[in-house]
Order: sequence, then C-alpha cells, then structure tokens
Amino acid sequence: MTTISESLMDRREQARLGGGQRRIDAQHSKGKLTARERLDVLLDEGSFEEYDMYKTHRCVEFGMDEQKIPGDGVVTGWGTINGRPVYVYSQDFTVFGGSLSETHAEKICKVMDLAMQNGVPVIGLSDSGGARIQEGVDSLAGYSEVFWRNAQASGAIPQISMIMGPSAGGAVYSPAMTDFIFMVKDTSYMFVTGPDVVKTVTNEIVTAEELGGAATHTKKSSVADGAYDNDVDALLDLRRFYSFLPLNAEVNAPYQPTTDSFDREDFSLDTLIPENPNQPYDMREVITKLADEADFFEIQKDFAGNILVGFIRINGDTVGVVANQPMVLAGALDISASRKAARFVRFCDAFNIPILTLTDVPGFMPGTSQEFGGIIKHGAKLLFAYAQATVPLVTVITRKAYGGAYCVMAPKHLRADVNYAWPTAQIAVMGAKGATEILYRSELDDPEKIAKRTADYEERFANPFIAAERGFVDEVINPRSTRRRIARAFELLKTKQVQEPFKKHDNIPL
Ligand code: HXC
Repeated sequence: MTTISESLMDRREQARLGGGQRRIDAQHSKGKLTARERLDVLLDEGSFEEYDMYKTHRCVEFGMDEQKIPGDGVVTGWGTINGRPVYVYSQDFTVFGGSLSETHAEKICKVMDLAMQNGVPVIGLSDSGGARIQEGVDSLAGYSEVFWRNAQASGAIPQISMIMGPSAGGAVYSPAMTDFIFMVKDTSYMFVTGPDVVKTVTNEIVTAEELGGAATHTKKSSVADGAYDNDVDALLDLRRFYSFLPLNAEVNAPYQPTTDSFDREDFSLDTLIPENPNQPYDMREVITKLADEADFFEIQKDFAGNILVGFIRINGDTVGVVANQPMVLAGALDISASRKAARFVRFCDAFNIPILTLTDVPGFMPGTSQEFGGIIKHGAKLLFAYAQATVPLVTVITRKAYGGAYCVMAPKHLRADVNYAWPTAQIAVMGAKGATEILYRSELDDPEKIAKRTADYEERFANPFIAAERGFVDEVINPRSTRRRIARAFELLKTKQVQEPFKKHDNIPL
C-alpha cells in the first residue's frame, strides 16, 4: 500500500516530467535546459517554492480533453537569488510547445499579482510557441490579462525577461513591456510573425535567426538588452544582474560591501584624454576605473555604441551610468543613442537608482537620415527623461559638451545636483573650427586669419572655466579624484527630496 506521502511524491514526479522524457531529450539535444533545470540554475539552491504544479487546461476542442499535462506548460512560483526574493515563471516547451493557454496565463498572472502585492520583482523565462492554437480567444484573453499586469507593474517592481527559445506572436509583447530583455544566442528568437508569414506577405525570404535571433535584437532592433552563449551563462549572469536592482520602487537597491575604497585615486585618468581633441579614447575605461571593483554591468552593449549605459556600484551602492563614447561616431547623439539612454534613465529614475553622467559629446548627429527619422522627437526623449528624473544626478564633463548635447546630458539647468568638469572639458555652443567659420565667414579665404581666430576661440572657450564662473559647473576636479568626488556627492544626495507638480502622468515624446 502506498502512503499518502508516496502518492504525493508520485504526483509531483509526474508533473516534473512535463511533456515526457522524449520531449525533454529533444529539448536537451537543442542545447537547451528544461524549464525546471533553468530555475535550478537561476535560483538559490533549494529556495524554489512551486505553485500550481497540477493545474491543467480546460480546453475540449481538437481532442485536447484527452491531453492534459500537469502544469500546463509553465512552471511558476518564487525563490531567492543571493537570498533576495523573486517571483518566477519558466515556460516549459515540452508541454504543448510552451504555448499560452487560458490556465497557463492564469498561473503567470497569479505570480504577477503576488509580486505586485509583496513588492518583489518578476523574472520570466520564455520558451513558447505563442498562443495555444487549440484554445482560440481564451488564449488571447490570457495574453491580454498578462499584458495588463505588465503595464500595471511597470515602474512599481522590476520585470525581467529572458528569452530561451521561440517567442512568437503574442509571446513577444509581454517581454516587450518588461524592463529588460535578454536572449540566448542561436536557440532563441522573437518575432511577431514568423518567416513563413513574412514570405507570404512581403515576399522576403529570411530565416528565423535573421528575423528575430539574438544578433538581430541586440544589434539592429535594440529589442533585447544583451545576449548569451547558452542557458547556463545567461542564467548565471542574470543572478549577477539581479544584485544591482531594488525589489521595488519604494526601496533602494541592495548595498554590497566592498573592499574598494571610495577615495581610491586613479592617476591614469589624469592622462587619459588625448592632446588632440579629435582623437578618441575609451570611455568604458573611465567607467570601470570609477566603479567598485571595476564591475560594470553594461546594457545594450552591441547597440548604439556611441553611448554607454549600465550599472556600477560606487561605495557599495548601485549607480546607473550614462556616458558618451568618443570611440564611436565621436560620441555624437543620434536617434539610437537617444532612445537607448532615455529608456535607461527612465528605469533608473523609476527605481531610485542614482545616475552618473559622463559627458564627452560633440553634439547631435547631423544628416537627412537623422532628421527624417525624427531625431527631434527621439533626442527629446533623453532630454525629457533627464529633466524629469528626481533621483540623485551627478555629471562629470570629461571633454566636449557642445551645443544641444550639453543641454541634454544632465547639466545643472535640467536640475542635476552636482556637476563636475575635468580640466580638459570644453563647454561651448560648438567646436572652435565650426564656430570661427560661422563667425568669420568673410575671412574664410584667408587661412592664416582663420587659424588665428580658431586658436583665440579655443583659448577663450575650450575650457571648463566660463561654465564654472557662472556656477554651471560646481568644481573643476582632478580626474584622478573623480571616484572620491562622486562617491561623496552620492552619499550626501541620499536624502534628496523633490516635490513634483500634480499630474495624472507625463506625456514623454514617445
Ligand atoms: C499549440 C503548439 C504551439 C501552439 C507549438 N506547439 N506551438 N501547440 N499551440 N502555438 C506544439 C507542437 O504542436 C508540438 O507538439 C510541440 O509544441 C513542439 O512544436 P514543434 O513545432 O514540433 O517544435 P519546433 O519544430 O521546435 O518549432 C517550434 C515553433 C513551431 C517554431 C514554435 O511550433 C511553431 O511555429 N508554432 C506555432 C507558432 C505560432 O504561430 N503561434 C501562434 C502565434 S499567434 P507535439 O505534440 O508534436 O510535441 C499569437 C497571437 C497572440 O500568438 C497575439 C496576442 C497579441
């Protein structure tokens, strides 16, 4: 006779088998882990509490009443990552291709509701063929219930998506409404309509990988924020990423003790900026030299390389960094860079993460493709995001802060709290050459005169002191002391409070 406990074990064992050993083997043969194996890697050992493991669908069409698999294609519950709670769902491709049914959606909604109630983030691991075809509108209803919750949760709790297999049709829009999307290279893809439909409608012949693989979404579309070689790398780095984030909008990100002294000086920064203002240097080097233990979690590193965004810690506290990168397009702001940085600033501001801005920008990118593409509206996104941010803002101008780009990159006038400049900073409407060519147009046929005018302009304006004379820059600092300066600034700004005017919500230039 089997005991109660044994029969419970049997039921659990059956549920854990999902779609059966054959399909599990097929999953493994593609280099993919199963839904539960993924949670084992993501969560602290033994911390996972599963909910609804026996839940089955209610569909009777297409012989579905004969095919009920406990769990219905998604594993849900909560666990911890480095001791901090997280709600999770992990779609099980071995069960009806991880497709979303009414009950599959109910399971996801349950953890989302609990996450909202308890102020805990949600991580979704996607591996799904989209809407459960046999269920029709019930499945679509399930999707919309999830989407509604994504919108409700946005800005209240962090939501993170890891795409680990197909994410087709309706399966793309829930991740799209979360804060971050990561993908696994070669085994995951996201598209609204697959290659067959594309061929029928537009006559384009394209593979799933080309249409929606990790390379496409991290380099071209910017739908995804990062990509990994395999499931294990992806999930382990997700654990690292999680440690930078707060649990919800009402608390701060966790403090991580460090042995890296806040006043560590880095003399190499004193000589980093080249003599020639047109010569690039690597802003990533500045970021890692300022960060605790050189740890920089970069977001969208393969997209819009002219701006760098990501998370570091300064003296144990999470800080979001936005930095122009002179190595790419001289650091000019274009549509892609503006969108990338604007979204990042919005995330940081929503979740109490202070922002460090490192400025070296020659201006907005000129050209018809930029104007036709709406650089005005897209540039305004970044401007708006900074202007609206109420988290502590510290800005360091390392070199160029020209024109409109000066106005955008968290200057004092957008209410940045502390603005520093390195002695190499040049704060002006534009570079010396461009300025003299406009101001002294009539002398253009005399190169000697123009050269002198340019040198005069440089002497007068290519420095941080005019801005400092006006108080737009609080202090001109030695590059080597930057870490200490910003650490002390952020420390003091911890009690920053801002009163905002009443509104239902803003109208960011979308
Ligand atoms: C039900 C599905 C399914 C689905 C896959 N399966 N997708 N069952 N509904 N949407 C089942 C298959 O029947 C199969 O069952 C198992 O999952 C594995 O699928 P395969 O096709 O064998 O796997 P693979 O070759 O790896 O291909 C994966 C796939 C393909 C590319 C995802 O299955 C596929 O194209 N599926 C349909 C995608 C799609 O069009 N979805 C609907 C989008 S419309 P067995 O029993 O053989 O293991 C949509 C509208 C919502 O989502 C819009 C809201 C905004």
